[in-house]
Amino acid sequence: DDQKIYRASTTAPVNIAVIKYWGKRDPTLNLPTNSSLSVTLSQADLRTHTTAACSASFPGPDSLVINGAPQDISGPRTQACLRLLREQRAALESSSSPAPLPSLSSFPLRIASVNNFPTAAGLASSAAGFAALVRAVADLYQLPASPAELSRIARQGSGSACRSLFGGYVAWERGGEGAAGGAEAGAGAGTGAGAEGAQARADDGSDSLATQVAPAGHWPDMRALILVVSADKKGVSSTAGMQATVATSELFATRAATLVPRRMAQMRAAILARDFDAFARLTMRDSNNFHATCLDTEPPIFYLNDVSRAAIRVVEDINKAVGRIVAAYTFDAGPNAVVYYLAENESLVAGTFKADMGSAAGWDTERGRAVQINGGAA
Ligand code: PMV
Repeated sequence: DDQKIYRASTTAPVNIAVIKYWGKRDPTLNLPTNSSLSVTLSQADLRTHTTAACSASFPGPDSLVINGAPQDISGPRTQACLRLLREQRAALESSSSPAPLPSLSSFPLRIASVNNFPTAAGLASSAAGFAALVRAVADLYQLPASPAELSRIARQGSGSACRSLFGGYVAWERGGEGAAGGAEAGAGAGTGAGAEGAQARADDGSDSLATQVAPAGHWPDMRALILVVSADKKGVSSTAGMQATVATSELFATRAATLVPRRMAQMRAAILARDFDAFARLTMRDSNNFHATCLDTEPPIFYLNDVSRAAIRVVEDINKAVGRIVAAYTFDAGPNAVVYYLAENESLVAGTFKADMGSAAGWDTERGRAVQINGGAA
């Protein structure tokens, strides 16, 4: 039926990394220099809702609208996601000979997304956005793909998006270990393993995907306070910032080759043991280390501002007053803070932030709020 409109809708949550992704070893396939680990936030607070539709009756080309504004989707990232999804649908169609499937893969797509938080404010809108886009189209195409397989596609839209296909605590494995092309962690460590003897695998991104470390219910009293210091679009995009850091920072090689691999293992163990002290220390150190590599970039990149630094002091003051670590800050490629804490310390942490920062410049009390960690999709 040529007039029929096929449709699927889904939502995807925001995730905030506690071990940061920063640096691409392959910008085309969007392969990271190091693994990363994140916590998925509650969809009730921060999420993207996406509807994908296709029909033989739609005039081409494909289109995407975010919060009502038409987007340019000619860029390689969105094109890569749509091409991979179409290829999988086309394979399904060609293998269903007795009862043929409608050839949705050849129809123009219309995709519409709505965020319930500021877009591109350093609040990981691209993560939720690409995760929702990929899952909406996969649902529309009725692909039998697992969340891990979809994460491999979403990764090519925005790296951090691959982690938003799962709820709870999620690792994105860099992949490519032992593959041809010196894919050992970080710079300098590659020794061309596989150059002789066994045939070398290509570092094609097939093993660079997200997996769940633990579901949200494993550590149900984890909370996150989001402090929206600025809802403006960020100054230096994550892609441009990463490229500059990889090209010029001397600290970065140590981060990627040594610090992150060690912290990935320690963070996994901290989460599995529900060890908040270890989780918090690693979270803060990794955020500071990531921002140190930004400062070490030439020219330097400043994502934190005075309000961000005030938020760090508030966390330090709370922890000092209590005599143990009950709150942990982390910052992405922007000035907004995310503060992790346990539910038992809700009034202390959230209350102190309200009292200390309620009148700070750029601080919006309406937007500073506690969000729960939830189960997400899987
Ligand atoms: O997914 P991207 O390309 O927007 O990069 C995200 C980078 C950070 O948010 C700073 C860190 C992370 O792991 O999410």
